[in-house]
Amino acid sequence: MTDKVLVAYGTTNGSTARIAEAVADVLRKDGLAVDTLPARSVPSVSPYDAVVIGGGLYAGRWHKDARRFVRRHGRALTERPLWLFSSGPLDATASERDIPPVPGVRKTMARLDARDHVTFGGCLEEGAKGWVAGMILRSGKGGDFRDFTAIEAWAERVAAELRNGA
Ligand SMILES: Cc1cc2nc3c(=O)[nH]c(=O)nc-3n(C[C@H](O)[C@H](O)[C@H](O)COP(=O)(O)O)c2cc1C
Repeated sequence: MTDKVLVAYGTTNGSTARIAEAVADVLRKDGLAVDTLPARSVPSVSPYDAVVIGGGLYAGRWHKDARRFVRRHGRALTERPLWLFSSGPLDATASERDIPPVPGVRKTMARLDARDHVTFGGCLEEGAKGWVAGMILRSGKGGDFRDFTAIEAWAERVAAELRNGA
């Protein structure tokens, strides 16, 4: 039986944290005890029966905090049901079709035998860190493409698997 779930995230500008909160809210409504934490501030996953880890995408890679998290806790993660998500595309494509994981995340999925991975649309808004972010915004390509209906639907599937003794 699953008692406690960790939803961890790697974020630079906060939008992946908000997705993690939305996932956690669905799991809580399903009666699970959930902690939502920045991936870099998780000392150990041993208190948890299952883990969801998400990261923003930067230059074709998962956020470094998500990468470090799966490296650091690798062995413990293989012993627990594990789900991954990425958040990135700054357009509607993630709502229109499945976007496969970037190569590094695909390898992580295989190595840790993760149950599933999904790519959600991302968000980039005024005030984002870094000059590349500023360039993207000035070129008019920013915006909020997070699809909370899709995020909640995915979280429902995670909850259902946990309920069925994943
Ligand atoms: C410098 C930079 C590079 C990015 N690279 C990618 C990318 O390779 N693929 C992608 O889908 N999105 C990319 N994005 C969009 C981000 O993944 C998106 O803004 C995401 O929601 C950021 O998450 P965060 O707010 O949690 O940091 C990039 C954004 C910036 C600012």
